[in-house]
Amino acid sequence: MAKADKTMNEIVALCKRRGFIFQSSEIYGGINALWDMGPLGVEMKKNIKDFWWKSIVQMRPDVEGLDSSILMHPKIWEASGHIENFTDPLIECRNCHKRFRADDIKGKNCPNCGSDQLTEPRMFNLMFKTFIGPLESVENTIYLRPETAQGIYIDYQNVLMATRQKIPFGIAQIGKAFRNEISPGNFIFRSREFEQMEMQYFVHPDDANKWFEYWREMRWQWYIQLGIDEEKIHWHRHGENELAHYARNAYDIEFDFPFGRKELEGVHNRGDFDLSRHQQYSNKNLEYTDKITGEKFIPFIIETSGGVDRGMLAILSDAYTVEPEPKNPSKMRVVLKMHPRISPIKVGVFPLVKKDNMPKVASEIARELRKKFTVFYDEKDSIGRRYRRQDEAGTPFCVTVDGQTFDDDTVTIRERDTLVQVRVKIDEIAPMINKYIENWKKNKGISLS
Ligand code: GAP
Repeated sequence: MAKADKTMNEIVALCKRRGFIFQSSEIYGGINALWDMGPLGVEMKKNIKDFWWKSIVQMRPDVEGLDSSILMHPKIWEASGHIENFTDPLIECRNCHKRFRADDIKGKNCPNCGSDQLTEPRMFNLMFKTFIGPLESVENTIYLRPETAQGIYIDYQNVLMATRQKIPFGIAQIGKAFRNEISPGNFIFRSREFEQMEMQYFVHPDDANKWFEYWREMRWQWYIQLGIDEEKIHWHRHGENELAHYARNAYDIEFDFPFGRKELEGVHNRGDFDLSRHQQYSNKNLEYTDKITGEKFIPFIIETSGGVDRGMLAILSDAYTVEPEPKNPSKMRVVLKMHPRISPIKVGVFPLVKKDNMPKVASEIARELRKKFTVFYDEKDSIGRRYRRQDEAGTPFCVTVDGQTFDDDTVTIRERDTLVQVRVKIDEIAPMINKYIENWKKNKGISLS
């Protein structure tokens, strides 16, 4: 097995074992390209989304939040160009009946069975359809949104009016999107139901290039703050024939996944495409009026569009480390060295042994720490095993109550990456953890003291 496949298999197995990600509908044999977030996955994903929301909405006076509906008026998808353009060329093998995207086929043979009995490509729309109301008719057909962006465009005037923002300003949204992908795969990289974190920034047309560069820089820096290794991310500029139907200019932030360099997030200059089209299809005036100059214009839109699930997979694969145990180098430990800000559990709390009142004191410490952090209390198995379980979950700190705790109110704190252990007073645990999370730098091994 190739090394990349082995690494991916190990990551998938760890995600199941530790409760990050499960295959959807597993007891019914599973369903392709749909995934469930387990107890750790849901915490980790929430941490990614919270960090995005904090940096894009909470910290910025010029960006507002929105949560628009998933099902929307079907005309939106005519206006947006999705009914006409959101298609992939589909080729089917007449021999094994597998289906492929045309660009996944190199040469003239089926990648699955080798047959040359391939159909001509036919265009396949990626939007999921359903019906609104009891009648399953053409007029009642609606779509599960394939991107969150359109909900923002159609609410842009409502947000403007309610918030009294002035251009330039942005609207941000996190939510589910659905695509009936022909060739999904690579775990959660390409699935049929996923989450997007999108921000649409409305600007004067003359300023679009300036803001496009600004948002490229902001998004790059965000991934660094997320703890992703800067050497593993790259810019890819879309060539003329790659640009989506709405884009004037587009760059992807790509990440070196175990299965290759692939898109993580897109930054697009969408020009006035979306608002002009919605103005045309809705017959509503969507111009912006500058209150000072009186100028009326359709704003240009700079979009940043990231996948939460892809971000999660990038962090997991960046963090996944197999290394010799320092005290016993013939044994390997598996550890997720992710930014503690993103770690699903922040602190493991253990009694060294299950006697001498240690469980009682450790439980009390866990109860106090839960007010501030996600905590996992564990008293089963040897202390070494408990540490290793938390390493695999990416837990940055383990607090252990031992005999000395009863003498001087101290515990040991063990740090995940460096394995440094220090003794601290019980009431110093929380401030120390907070300080460490703020100052964490990848591979820097900051001392706990
Ligand atoms: N509003 C623009 C837009 O949707 P996109 O490049 O099609 O642009 C943006 O998608 C991001 O959404 C991608 O960079 C990726 O992170 C995520 N994404 C797209 N399709 C996905 C899929 N099938 N599974 C998981 N994530 C996906």
